Amino acid sequence: MKLYLSGSQTQRAAIAGLFVLLLPLLQPNLFGPLGRASPSMFSEWNAPKPRHLTLLHSALQRQTFNSRVDFGLPWPTKDGSRVPRLRKYHDRVAEKNACGLFGLVLPEKSQGYIQVFLDGGLNQQKMGICDAVAVAKIMNATLVIPHLEVNPVWQDSSSFTEIFDVDHFIDVLRDEISIVKELPSEFSWSTREYYATGIRATRIKTAPVHASANWYLENVVPVLQSYGIAAIAPFSHRLTFENLPANIQRLRCKVNFQALAFVPHIRALGDTLVNRLRSPSNKIQAVGTEYLLEGRDQIEKQKAGKFVVLHLRFDKDMAAHSACDFGGGKAERLALAKYRQVLWQGRVLNSQFTDEELRNQGRCPLTPEEIGLLLAALGFDNNTRLYLASHKVYGGEARISTLRKLFPLMEDKKSLASVEERAKVEGKASLLAAVDYYVSMQSNIFISASPGNMHNALVGHRAYMNLKTIRPNMALLGQLFLNKSMEWSEFQGAVIEGHKSRQGQIRLRKEKQSIYTYPAPNCMCQA
Ligand SMILES: *[C@@H]1O[C@H](CO)[C@@H](O)[C@H](O)[C@H]1NC(C)=O
Ligand SMILES: *[C@@H]1O[C@H](CO)[C@@H](O)[C@H](O)[C@H]1NC(C)=O
Ligand SMILES: *[C@@H]1O[C@H](CO)[C@@H](O)[C@H](O)[C@H]1NC(C)=O
Repeated sequence: MKLYLSGSQTQRAAIAGLFVLLLPLLQPNLFGPLGRASPSMFSEWNAPKPRHLTLLHSALQRQTFNSRVDFGLPWPTKDGSRVPRLRKYHDRVAEKNACGLFGLVLPEKSQGYIQVFLDGGLNQQKMGICDAVAVAKIMNATLVIPHLEVNPVWQDSSSFTEIFDVDHFIDVLRDEISIVKELPSEFSWSTREYYATGIRATRIKTAPVHASANWYLENVVPVLQSYGIAAIAPFSHRLTFENLPANIQRLRCKVNFQALAFVPHIRALGDTLVNRLRSPSNKIQAVGTEYLLEGRDQIEKQKAGKFVVLHLRFDKDMAAHSACDFGGGKAERLALAKYRQVLWQGRVLNSQFTDEELRNQGRCPLTPEEIGLLLAALGFDNNTRLYLASHKVYGGEARISTLRKLFPLMEDKKSLASVEERAKVEGKASLLAAVDYYVSMQSNIFISASPGNMHNALVGHRAYMNLKTIRPNMALLGQLFLNKSMEWSEFQGAVIEGHKSRQGQIRLRKEKQSIYTYPAPNCMCQA
């Protein structure tokens, strides 16, 4: 068992799925020797209390404080540009190879069909799609629109065509690779079910993590030549980022940043949310007319349209896996320990460390309260519109209420759109994540409370679009929050100092790093 060492999303997801299935059977044990749940057993649901009261108290007073100290607004500069010398390569393709090396052409003859079955959540599947296009291109094969597996944690069965605009996808890539929505009838036997029920010669099961282009040429091309088709699964993270031809890397960029667009109804709902966030008048009416008095509209106008997206993944799975203490008291600690026991037999790497050690190393996800304190320290005042991109917060509204106190103008899908408007995405985790992704791409600033696939995907995409992203300095914050005697001014000084170089400055990709998180320089060209 290497589960507890890797903590890979997929493996955790798979196990969590198992857990969901087994839950009814395990339930009695969860209640321990008492056999029946006494109310106190559920006190993990009691309101988690703020943990940093001194800081919180000062943060709530910060309007007066900030007006005395000029930090400048933490918003991007007017023209928004930070890296004038880098340009997206696809802006320049028309200028004929201005970027060099874009000479990919459709192969004259396809080697056969490539199928992939992708697991993970939306953002992991997106990377898989980009890699699938690259792999098909490397082999001169025809790609079948990827099959998205049902995610065992989030239980979403949405298909590629339900999430992404499939015609746009095929059209944008038409000059580089041929893509089909379905296999021709002679191959109709090659289904997900076919591969699930036996050992099949056309199934490629052994692709190593970060396999090279040569691996595919040596191991998959022969299968294509014999059978005309190859189905690769598992396929997550199965193509290297090193030593690939520049045009294959650029093709990956093109898929990720250009070809993958969400279906119209997701974009429409996203636009609705963005318009309501950008136009304060909607909210002003909701708050009451007195809001319009005394030059308030003047202030609003200056800041009109700006909003911050806060991605907050703080579900029970993540809370338990981090093995950190989140202030919910003994009951919460027990509940999370029990969850670890059931899912990972207690073998979670982090649980070898004390909470203090974990915080010192920056290994604890920030709680809503902590991310609120961070934003306040960076200079965001209580008039900041905050959009919460979040699926499910462990502890619910009780855990979010402190954040809401700091940022009363906090919104989410539910507060901004009606039940009817949300009907098509409700209960579908991938579509909800897609809406949040879309809104995140329109925001002035994006910040995530925990590193993960969504964070990485947006860091990369926003860097590509030259948009600002704040990357929390987890180790620094862990240390600051451990010190219970720290004053606000000191906290704020340390936060500002520790985030100077974490506000969206372009970082060039190092060898082995993901091109989807670090699109420069491979996806850019020098202007
Ligand atoms: C793919 O096609 C290109 C150009 O037609 C050719 O040079 C290359 O050898 C082909 N590769 C494979 C694996 O068929
Ligand atoms: C922000 O704080 C100020 C001063 O504490 C207060 O007067 C104002 O009503 C607050 N704004 C919002 C939107 O809550
Ligand atoms: C905590 O902060 C106080 C006040 O800034 C400082 O004097 C003290 O050294 C810090 N303690 C630790 C353990 O870092």
